Amino acid sequence: MLRLHNSIRPAFRSRRWAHNIPTFSHLNSVNEEDIAHFSSILAPTSILSTLSSVSTPADDIAPYNVDWMGKYHGQANSVLRPRTTQQVSEIVKYCAQRKIGIVPQGGNTGLVGGGISLQKEIVLSLGAMNNVRSFDPVSGVLVADAGCILQSLSEYIAPHNHIMPLDLGAKGSCQIGGNISTNAGGLRLLRYGSLHGTVLGLEVVLPDGTILDQLSTLRKDNTGYDLKQLFIGGEGTLGIVTGVSILTPPAPQATNNIFLALPRFDNVLPLFQTVKRQLGEIMSAFEYIDRTAYDMGLQHGLGPLLSADEVGDSQCFVLVETSGGNQDHDLEKLNNLLESLLTADEPLINTGVLSQSPTQFNSIWALREGLTECVQKEGKPYKYDVSVPLADFQNVVDAVRERMISKGLYGDHAISKVMGYGHVGDGNLHLNVIAKHGYRPELEAALEPFIYEIVADRKGSVSAEHGIGSMKRDALHYSKSEVSIEWMRKVKQVFDPLNIMNPGKVLP
Ligand code: FAD
Ligand code: MLT
Ligand code: ZN
Repeated sequence: MLRLHNSIRPAFRSRRWAHNIPTFSHLNSVNEEDIAHFSSILAPTSILSTLSSVSTPADDIAPYNVDWMGKYHGQANSVLRPRTTQQVSEIVKYCAQRKIGIVPQGGNTGLVGGGISLQKEIVLSLGAMNNVRSFDPVSGVLVADAGCILQSLSEYIAPHNHIMPLDLGAKGSCQIGGNISTNAGGLRLLRYGSLHGTVLGLEVVLPDGTILDQLSTLRKDNTGYDLKQLFIGGEGTLGIVTGVSILTPPAPQATNNIFLALPRFDNVLPLFQTVKRQLGEIMSAFEYIDRTAYDMGLQHGLGPLLSADEVGDSQCFVLVETSGGNQDHDLEKLNNLLESLLTADEPLINTGVLSQSPTQFNSIWALREGLTECVQKEGKPYKYDVSVPLADFQNVVDAVRERMISKGLYGDHAISKVMGYGHVGDGNLHLNVIAKHGYRPELEAALEPFIYEIVADRKGSVSAEHGIGSMKRDALHYSKSEVSIEWMRKVKQVFDPLNIMNPGKVLP
């Protein structure tokens, strides 16, 4: 296995690393005349603006100007909350004429600053477009407004015994349009695949205000280029997603989970292989938590799922979920798995627990899903969401910790914790670096581009699932070639020649 040591510097070297702050000299700020025009399109309650014709208190605009982590701060003075696709189209048409920048915003749970204005762009919030348009319980196809909250959609289809094909810790706030625009992965990707497969159609308002109606409910449609794919993960730079058609799978008849404590990280890979082999088609999630993240979760009231004695000096933990058709059959498989793991000559695990009730099932998941909020409570997180070979997960975390130690930046005065958790089954590590007393330029300078170079060395991705936003636009070239970036620019130019749609995001 490839090991990183403190003395080993990443081989990948970029001479182009710089955080460029984009300037928008091509764009106009919103003025009172613009607000008067928006008043002819929207109800008064759908317009928030600090401009004197509306005079919304700045405090009411503030939540739209700061991201979930408190890392990105915007300067928008006006927020529009349309209720219909037609209204979105009229707003965008007008903004194109006036060259006003637009930042689409969903639930504002994004982790890369994509939904926050960089200068004085207008925020177009989709939250008031929150109706289910149709659901077909036979095909499982759900058609909904982009502003529907993910959890509300899950609750809507639950009585029909269907589930959403994606699930994530932010489900209570994030919107399906935001999920699609970030191509969110989450906890069910291993089983149901990415949104590139489950989204059947989209309705999108293009940067000139044209409504692109591709709200197909067909599973198969090979008629020409599949334009919708460009908006999945487009991060609002190519258009505003207003409607979504998505395939929802039937709810599994039986779900179970186990939580395993492992003596050392090197056991994760063989464990993954063993679990896949023994559980076969019923394995639906395989999630990883390192010891630092586990202890942090406990300190913030998650778990404990195992006693301190049982955990002992375990270095890491794995959550395995099964989703199958027969509870007895699945439980038998899980019990056999646990028994074989515990009685092996050289056990891969120290101990494990199998949930015995829906409450236990939920508390096992709560420990994994709750980590993001715990990280937030610990301080200010630098969050790196990377794809690297599974064998390197812990090496990457250790290398970053060692780097901060070597720079005298590790400890309660600076970086208090470096930890890893993530979606092992998808090769996706969430590397979290906690700045105890807040974000500071010298901390970021020690972390970036160091982390991106490590990822590039391993031919990984600097964004496995959270996207590029404004955080990583200057790091895009670590994972994409010049040619790829050039063609992305051409695509942007075709859709948004005026560069009004989420300007300064994604593309360097
Ligand atoms: P926002 O944050 O509002 O926007 C995100 C981006 O999409 C921005 O660039 C914005 O401009 C654009 N956008 C939003 N809506 C639209 C639209 N209708 N049309 C065009 N562009 C739009 N991500 C994962 O992949 N997996 C996880 O497991 C996961 N877990 C999370 C857990 C927590 C607690 C949190 C806070 C975040 C998590 N995330 C995860 C991050 C993830 O990107 C978001 O939670 C979610 O997908 C974003 O949806 P949102 O509605 O909040 O979008
Ligand atoms: C997760 O998997 O928990 C999310 O992607 C959020 C995070 O990285 O914390
Ligand atoms: Zn994730």
